[in-house]
Parts: sequence; structure tokens; C-alpha cells
Amino acid sequence: MSKPKRLLIKLIPYWPRVLGAAVSTLAVMGLALIIPQLFRLTIDQAIQGSQAFYLPWIALSLLIFTVIKGVFSFTQRYWMEHVAQKLIYTLRNELFEHLQQLSFSFYDHTQTGQLMSRVTADVEMLKRFFGFGLLHLFQAAITFAGVLTVILVMNWRLSLVTILTLPAVILAIWRFGAKVSPAYQAVQEELAEMTSALQQNLAGIRTVKAFSQEAAETSKFNRHSVRLLGRNLAAVRIWSYYFPLIAFLTGLSSAVILWYGGREVIGGRMMLGELVAFNSYLLMLIMPMRMLGWVVNLSQRAMASAGRVFELLDTRPEVRDLPAAGPLPANVSGRITFVDVSFSYRPGVESLRNISFSASPGQKIAIVGATGSGKTTLVNLIPRHYEPAGGKILLDGEDIRNFTLRSLRSQIGVVSQEIFLFSATIAENIGYGNPAAGRQETEAAAQAAQIHDFILSLPQGYETMVGERGVNLSGGQKQRLAIARALLKDPKILILDDYTSSVDTNTEFLLRRALETLVRGRTCFIIAHRLSSVMEADLILVLKNGAIVASGKHKQLLAESPLYAEIYRLQPIADKPACREGSEL
Ligand SMILES: Nc1ncnc2c1ncn2[C@@H]1O[C@H](COP(=O)(O)OP(=O)(O)OP(=O)(O)O)[C@@H](O)[C@H]1O
Ligand SMILES: [Mg+2]
Repeated sequence: MSKPKRLLIKLIPYWPRVLGAAVSTLAVMGLALIIPQLFRLTIDQAIQGSQAFYLPWIALSLLIFTVIKGVFSFTQRYWMEHVAQKLIYTLRNELFEHLQQLSFSFYDHTQTGQLMSRVTADVEMLKRFFGFGLLHLFQAAITFAGVLTVILVMNWRLSLVTILTLPAVILAIWRFGAKVSPAYQAVQEELAEMTSALQQNLAGIRTVKAFSQEAAETSKFNRHSVRLLGRNLAAVRIWSYYFPLIAFLTGLSSAVILWYGGREVIGGRMMLGELVAFNSYLLMLIMPMRMLGWVVNLSQRAMASAGRVFELLDTRPEVRDLPAAGPLPANVSGRITFVDVSFSYRPGVESLRNISFSASPGQKIAIVGATGSGKTTLVNLIPRHYEPAGGKILLDGEDIRNFTLRSLRSQIGVVSQEIFLFSATIAENIGYGNPAAGRQETEAAAQAAQIHDFILSLPQGYETMVGERGVNLSGGQKQRLAIARALLKDPKILILDDYTSSVDTNTEFLLRRALETLVRGRTCFIIAHRLSSVMEADLILVLKNGAIVASGKHKQLLAESPLYAEIYRLQPIADKPACREGSEL
């Protein structure tokens, strides 16, 4: 479906108001067409015929018509703007909801700033098109039709002479539209680039400062600014050139009326009032013609925006519910089996190869391996954040694709490697996955995550606000909040990705001990660089370049896997079992 058609279809649910606005526009137009006739009557009948008793009636009619026209002008604008606001409200929500559905892979290759500019700037552009552009487009069309009909009926010879100047005006407007639309497209694109640059800079401002790159960043931003300025000025130049040209061409027709029409009046072939009315009609065309250039440009920009908005809406989530998917049974036991699973982020590059293992309900599965070996990638497949390229993953013996995403993910608690906390209170952050949880449950989760005492030491306890990205918390504190958040969901499957990376050995030990009770009854996947966290696991998977090179228990692996033995050898002394009692202090 073409973009304009797809946009216009969006108006259908609002048809009563759209119809009301259209009828109002017609009424305004009709009344506007009557008013010059009143002047004609005044001049030709009242003044030239010396019939003064006409005057109060003409004046009164003029007054009444103007008032009615005012009322319709109001309804015309208000109803259309109302429709535009409603429509854009729905579209904005639709976009947001759609963004929530899109998978990890989409966000891997899309810039946040680009998305933000679509939901804000592009949607705003569409609002202007619906609330303003469309109305003026319609108004211009009926003004042309109305005025041309009336003047042709009034005096066709004078009409033909004046209409001769119109093709030049229309040509100028058309050329204007053709030139200005790519210019504005370029402006819009650069604006999105700049938003993206700004968003990235603000997200990474701490890195910028740490590396003293403020000046370089400023000049990078300045380059975007300069480009945006240049593109805006290029568009302005087109405007500035065409507007006087269009005004000149429309002025030309007035000159023709004065010259040719004047001769007609002198020759007695036309009445004076008729000439005045005629000129008023022609003046009525000037405004819409000028507006047309503007509206054509607005419509072009709106089409560009519509393209960007529709492109986003048309992006199908890579991972979605199968038509036959059903809810995961509440009494799921949590047995996870990988059957020959492979996965690639990019075609041709396998990030996981032939992964097969089985985790019994309640087991602790540890995944170890060098950085970049595919540990996070592997666990991301369990909640179906990505879709395997080959093989399958079973939960309680059934392919996880048979369950709805929502029900599957409701049984999986994740503490991811990169923790994000919302600008909300600590209690709200912990309760994020389970807003119905009461204070007691929240505190129990915090206690288990070894963060309760710390929270109580804060001025407002659980009601303390966490800054965006939790900047006022340390890495280890954030990690423990994330653990509390995952535990409060009370999931059957728990995934802890590098959960001890930023806590000290003492906290790690306490966390580990707390987890021993917490993981009971849950299948738990633990990724850790510190082997002390994984030595008691029921199954340890050793990953190398996306493949399992060894698996088994700690002692067995120590003897059988050179890679595992090497990882063990490189561990800090304090993490090894013999010294573990020391870290308890
Ligand atoms: N979103 C992504 N898009 C493309 N490639 C990715 C993506 N995420 C990870 N990779 C690549 O996949 C491989 C495995 O990455 P993964 O994050 O699973 O490693 P990891 O074992 O968790 O490492 P670490 O211990 O550092 O967390 C790496 O080569 C990485 O570059
Ligand atoms: Mg990782």
C-alpha cells in the first residue's frame, strides 16, 4: 500500500469529525464566495444607483455572514486538530508498544537516537500534516474550484485573460515542491543523526570525561550542527527564492485585471462593482496559492516521516509467539535440555556450535570459559531473546517455542551482565518483575541478596530513589539489587550472568551461601569468572569459541580438561578452596 493511502486510512475511525471539518470548510468557502458579491451590490446598486436604503441590509448581511463564517472556521480547525491529536496519540502508543515487542537483535543494530527521533520528531511531523496540511490542501483545492467557477460565470473573457497567468504560478509551485522536499528530507535525516550523536554522548558522558575527550566530542557534535545548519539554510534558500517569485506571478494577474478590466468598465462592457468583486476573488486565490507551496512541502516532509514510522511498525520481531503457542504450565519442573543448538549473530559467523547438555530440575549448571567464548549468548537463548539457527531447546521435554514468550519469561529470573536500574525507588526496582509483591517479600529478597542492611542504612530506606542507571550505587550494590529483583519473581529458572564480578570475596561468599538455599527447587545457570562460585555446581560446561570442549564436575574437569585446569591455575589464591575459610572473615 502506498504511503499516502496508508496514512489516509488512519483517518477512517475519526470520520464524523473529519466529515464535520470538511463540511465546515465547504461552508467557510461558500460564505467567502458570497462576500465579494455584497461589495458588488453596494457599488453597482446602492452607490451607483443612489439607493441608500440597500446599505443597512447589505451591511447587516455582511455582519451575519462574517459571524457564521467565524463559527465554521472554528469548527473546521478545532475538529481537524482534534482528529490529528487523537490519531497521533494512538500512533505514538502503537509505536511504543511495538518497540517493546522487538527482539534483542533489532536493538543490536539500531541506534537509540534514531528510534527516539521517530517517536518524537517524525510523529510530530505527521501531526502537523493531519491537523494543518490536509485541511489546507483541501481548502486550496475547493478555493480554486469555487473561485474559478464564480469568475467564469461572472465574466468569462476577463477570467480567461487572468487565468493565462496561472500556469506560470502552478509551474513555480510545482518546482518549489520538487526542490524543497529533498532538501527537507536531508534536514530530517541530519536531525536524526544529531539526536543519535547527542544520545550516545550523554549515555557515555562518564567515559568521555574519563578519557578527557570533551573537546573532541564537542567538535564531533559541532560537525553535525554545521551540517544541519547547512541543510536548513539550503532549504531556506529555496524558500526565499520561490516565495517572491510566486508572489510576483500572482501580482501579475492583478495587473492584468486592472489593465484589461479597467478598459472593459470604461467601454461599458462591465460594471465597476463587478471589477472590484472580480479582483477580490482573485485575491482569494493568492493566499491558498502561497499556502500550497508550504503545504506541498509539509506533505512531502510528512511522507518522509511516514516512511520512517511505517518502516519501524513493519519491522517484525525476530522472536515471536508461534500461532500454536500455549502458556507454560504453572507446575513446570525446570528441566532444560539443549539439543545440538547452534547460533549466529551474523550469517557465516557461528557464535555457538553444537551445544548439547541437559540440566535436571533444581540443578546448578555453571558455564565457564574465556571472555567472548559465548557464555552470555548461550543463556540468552533460554528466555528466547534470540532464536537458535539450528537444534532446539527443551523445557520439561517440550520445545520452548511451544510456549508463549510471556509465560516462558515469567518463569525465568535473570541477573544480566549489564545491569540497568530505573529512575525509581529501590523498592520499585526490586519489585520490577513482580509489582504485586508486598514489602515483606521485597525485604526477604533483599535479605537473600545481602543488600537489606545497606538499604536500611540509606536515608529513605526502601523509598530511596535510584538515579538513572543507578549511578549513585556502586557496581556491587547494583548487582545485589538485580539479584533481589530476579529472586522476587520466584522463577523456576534462574540465570546469573557474572553475578559476582563486582562484589568483594567476602560478599561473594555470603551471596553464594544465601544462594545455596535460594536456588533450591530452581534450575540455576551460573556464569562466573571466579571458579569459587562454580566449584560445587552439578554440571560445569567449559566453553571455547562457542563450543563445549569439556563438561562434568569440578574434580573430574580438573583432571581431564587442560583448559579448565588452566583457568583454575590462573585463579587468585584467595579463591581456592584451601583459603576459602579466610575469605569468610
Ligand atoms: N549482540 C551481538 N551481536 C553480534 N555479535 C555479538 C553480540 N553479542 C556478542 N557477540 C559476539 O559473540 C561472541 C560471544 O559473546 P558473549 O557475549 O556470549 O561472550 P561471553 O562468553 O559472555 O563473554 P564475557 O565473559 O566477556 O561476558 C563474541 O565473539 C561477541 O563478539
Ligand atoms: Mg558475557
